[in-house]
Amino acid sequence: MAKATATVWVCQKCGGQSQRELGKCPHCKEWNSLVEERAPSAAGAAKGMAARGGFRLREVKPVAYGEVESQDDARVSSGIDEFDRVLGGGIVPGSLVLIGGEPGIGKSTLIIQVADKLSARGQRVLYVSGEESERQIKMRGERLGLKAENLLLLPETNLENIFDEIERSGPGAVIVDSIQTVFSSKIESAPGSVSQVREVAGQFLMLAKNSSIPVFLIGHVTKDGSIAGPKTLEHIVDTVLYFEGERHHNHRIIRATKNRFGAANELGVFEMTGAGLVPVANPSEMFLQERPVGVAGSVVTACMEGTRPVLVEIQALVSGSKYGTGRRMAQGFDANRIALLIAMLEKRIGLHLLGDDVFVNVAGGLEIDEPAADIGVVAAIASSFKNLPLDAHTAVFGEVGLTGEVRGAMQAQVRAREAQALGFKKIVMPASNTAGLERLIGLRVVGVRSVEEALNELF
Ligand code: TYD
Ligand code: MG
Repeated sequence: MAKATATVWVCQKCGGQSQRELGKCPHCKEWNSLVEERAPSAAGAAKGMAARGGFRLREVKPVAYGEVESQDDARVSSGIDEFDRVLGGGIVPGSLVLIGGEPGIGKSTLIIQVADKLSARGQRVLYVSGEESERQIKMRGERLGLKAENLLLLPETNLENIFDEIERSGPGAVIVDSIQTVFSSKIESAPGSVSQVREVAGQFLMLAKNSSIPVFLIGHVTKDGSIAGPKTLEHIVDTVLYFEGERHHNHRIIRATKNRFGAANELGVFEMTGAGLVPVANPSEMFLQERPVGVAGSVVTACMEGTRPVLVEIQALVSGSKYGTGRRMAQGFDANRIALLIAMLEKRIGLHLLGDDVFVNVAGGLEIDEPAADIGVVAAIASSFKNLPLDAHTAVFGEVGLTGEVRGAMQAQVRAREAQALGFKKIVMPASNTAGLERLIGLRVVGVRSVEEALNELF
């Protein structure tokens, strides 16, 4: 057993431990990320757990598969449909949800709106705030016009005190804003350090599972986009919701990057207004709002974001480079994938892009992470290169292979129907996906087998 006074060096990025002080983490290879921490002894940790009153661990016995109650019916609506959607259909009792995002993007705003809706239905909500005073929270609430009669505000950062209060008030839901400010006095490292964040999250997980109280943890995101603290935090929680994109846009995109209770990649779209976050009923319409018509380099592609089809505009700008070889830059799309698609265009279609800078941007701050958007990117680049605009009422989708072939995509029907619903007249898509789409009223479906065919169809 380890000595009570043993020290370890803990990587603040990956949570890996080392017995010695090192300049580089031996696990994730990050430089200067190791911080000296006192290792809690195994006996001490066990004692800490046992000492926790109230939420004692249940006795665990095996249960027959057939006797396990289905949980879906137990979901509680948050009262905000876009939020329910990213959660996979509502709040699951006993779930631990992490909400991450840059400072100022709207995490606290969203969660207090949820708290207000729950409160309006008679649920007592405990809002633990380590960042703002009661008065600041009240000011935000007043700005949002919230009544929140059953909302309890607790400006506290000590985990043990928080748990005492949870026992006392017996809330129906707990919010922790933010997890980086909470610390357990059983661990000696500073709040926000890997060990603290992990311990605090672990304790809230136990609380959630043993009491069926849903717990929402707000987490800060570092500059490189990861939640400050260990990656392990994401493994501990049931659901991870991220605010995607920047706060310079009016709208806010919330994505479920992990969800044990629903589809991953599910998307919720809100608009930030003077009265807080308002759900956007039709994201496709919103993403296409500012689309330039009749301008080269703009293509509409049909994406699947979780279970929902979304039409987005992909923009490309191809311009002569001042240097020998052109730069490739991408926003909202994988830059390596773009390099690959450009190489394919050079080799298979004969577009000479080597000396050109190529910029690709997904309009609206959305991040697209599916190969079915390939052909949209390819068409946007070709359109800018040839300086030929596409027809404004045409949409595309399909994966592109290295030989220039167009491959089928999942949920083709759903994508085509979304294009139809938004008044598009033509959709260029993989030939292997067109079955059953012949009868879409007002939408001409064109199946293509290769990029060459697709570009011929588009220009
Ligand atoms: P906030 O929820 O405090 O962000 P976070 O908790 O993620 O740090 O949001 C702060 C921003 O939101 C701030 O720039 C002001 C803006 N805002 C609105 O535009 N409308 C509103 O009704 C509210 C409450 C905030
Ligand atoms: Mg906040």
